[in-house]
Amino acid sequence: MSTTELEGRTALVTGGSRGIGRATCLALAGAGARVAINFASNQQAAVETLAQVESLGAEAMIVKADVSDPDAVSEMVKSVESTLGPVDLLVTSAGVASVEHHGEMEFEKWRRMLSINLDGTYLPVMAVKDGMLAREYGRIVCIASIAGLRARGSMITYSTSKAAVIAFARSCAASFGPNIRVNCVAPGLIDTDMGSSMGADAMRRLADEAFLKRIGQPEEIAESVLFLLSERSSFTTGQTYVADGGRVTMP
Ligand SMILES: NC(=O)c1ccc[n+]([C@@H]2O[C@H](COP(=O)([O-])OP(=O)(O)OC[C@H]3O[C@@H](n4cnc5c(N)ncnc54)[C@H](OP(=O)(O)O)[C@@H]3O)[C@@H](O)[C@H]2O)c1
Repeated sequence: MSTTELEGRTALVTGGSRGIGRATCLALAGAGARVAINFASNQQAAVETLAQVESLGAEAMIVKADVSDPDAVSEMVKSVESTLGPVDLLVTSAGVASVEHHGEMEFEKWRRMLSINLDGTYLPVMAVKDGMLAREYGRIVCIASIAGLRARGSMITYSTSKAAVIAFARSCAASFGPNIRVNCVAPGLIDTDMGSSMGADAMRRLADEAFLKRIGQPEEIAESVLFLLSERSSFTTGQTYVADGGRVTMP
């Protein structure tokens, strides 16, 4: 990635305060974009990401919003556009995960996870797409998961939410063309707060399942996101790019 490839572009990264979102903010800054860093509650992490992004010379801001709240998302996009300019690049990385046996599933927990992972993808995309369509330029990457591509008996809700994100992004790509591209990245297990919430034993087992025999780093996912945002992927839309060290291709 050249340091000027995304110069003049404004990017909004939901869940930019930590993990994959933070690594993506840094990669965007490194490519010359202006960066809006969304967070839900961890302001300290967002401020730390802001400092790291600004140290790369990028114009940036933090913006608090619960991505499952329509009014908050609408306010977030207004605030970003009035400070950094129209959103050209959107990355939806905000998300939550939990491991649960089917006997522990509850409708309220199901609704809450779908509202963050799925509504929280739908709302930012809907809030920026009309501007992108009017300006005839837009690049959107939604962070899904290999859990949306494979069965996950202990993550039924999460897996469902990510499969829906993949279907949503693919259909948006069909609907928003020809000037807007929409793709997903589907990571395997990544070394973030969410990844380590699986516990050390599960992390070792999942690392062992991968051809590469390790879990991934958030920076490796950020590289895939940057590729899909950049013109290096100019003929790619409606796709789900798997970055999982080889797990999804297992029988
Ligand atoms: N880590 C993995 O192994 C893995 C694998 C596959 C897919 N993914 C996906 O990758 C994405 C990022 O995961 P991660 O590992 O980077 O997670 P993480 O380290 O736990 O970070 C989660 C991020 O999402 C934000 N967030 C959570 N709920 C939100 C809400 N309601 N509104 C706005 N922001 C919210 C958090 O903000 P605060 O800092 O304010 O809490 C934080 O920035 C998620 O969509 C996840 O499902 C992760």
